[in-house]
Amino acid sequence: DRDDLLFSYKGILYPTTVCSPEVFKALESFEARQEDVILAGYPKSGTNWVGQILTDLVTTSAENNEDETNSLNDEELEEFPYLEVGDAEKYQRMEKLPSRRVIFTHLLPHNLPESIFKNKAKVLVLVRNPKDVATSFYHFTNGMSPLPSYETWDEFFTAFMTGKMPWGSYFDYICEWSKHVDDENVMTITYEELKENRALAVKKIAEFFVLPLTEEQLQAVVDRSSFQAMKENAHKTHGALGNALFRKGSVSDWKNLFNEDQNQEMDKMFEERLARTKLGAKIKY
Ligand code: PPS
Repeated sequence: DRDDLLFSYKGILYPTTVCSPEVFKALESFEARQEDVILAGYPKSGTNWVGQILTDLVTTSAENNEDETNSLNDEELEEFPYLEVGDAEKYQRMEKLPSRRVIFTHLLPHNLPESIFKNKAKVLVLVRNPKDVATSFYHFTNGMSPLPSYETWDEFFTAFMTGKMPWGSYFDYICEWSKHVDDENVMTITYEELKENRALAVKKIAEFFVLPLTEEQLQAVVDRSSFQAMKENAHKTHGALGNALFRKGSVSDWKNLFNEDQNQEMDKMFEERLARTKLGAKIKY
């Protein structure tokens, strides 16, 4: 039963397979650092894509500086990058990691540990068109994923529109992060602008996090983050989940799934709830 695979924490649903109330409790005391590199995005917005760009930028910049990162072995550096996914000891292990730590999260800002905002950690907020997010999410739940699956697309669509979903409502997510768009330590980027000009987006991201790389190094990061390159590497980087995670990587695949009523319902919802919010206005709709 699908509902057995989800639990509610502070009013939002999460999958029992990868999250737990104990870990959420432990997360409250997580100490963010000013140097942390944080990536926030609703599921299926391109987290693993931008996450790979960030990790690559941080690693290359550390090599340039001959940071202590180099003196640690791989095992000591290993920590699953999703902030809210892991065991309750995760945050103790993270304390030992050298800066700069790259951290991904699908959480709403008020469900993040306060130290992220208090300590002025920089946050990159990633957004993607809701129609493509829903499409990607639906296919992911039907593939080999740790999330509950849905019998039909129509059933999934209803869950997406009402927010009865793992990690909650896309619409609430955009509204809540809208409140932080003008924060000094927040930058936003869209999936669509990355598709359009990856080189420019990578450069802007490197500047925001103050990760100085040579033009050649930046180009290498750009090359390594193509859909093709990441998909070919997916088994190595993401194991059995790789195929489901790097599915199509395109814009407007929703046209193969939405019917006209659903299209209009989404347009109406976007217009009513997001079009006039600060983050909603940035979404390539
Ligand atoms: S998750 O499970 O929430 O962490 O998923 P997430 O990584 O956020 O999103 C998965 C979608 O991102 C696409 N993707 C890419 N698109 C373009 N270029 C590159 N390099 C890339 N890497 C991942 C991935 O294919 C998923 O979208 P869909 O539409 O399903 O293909």
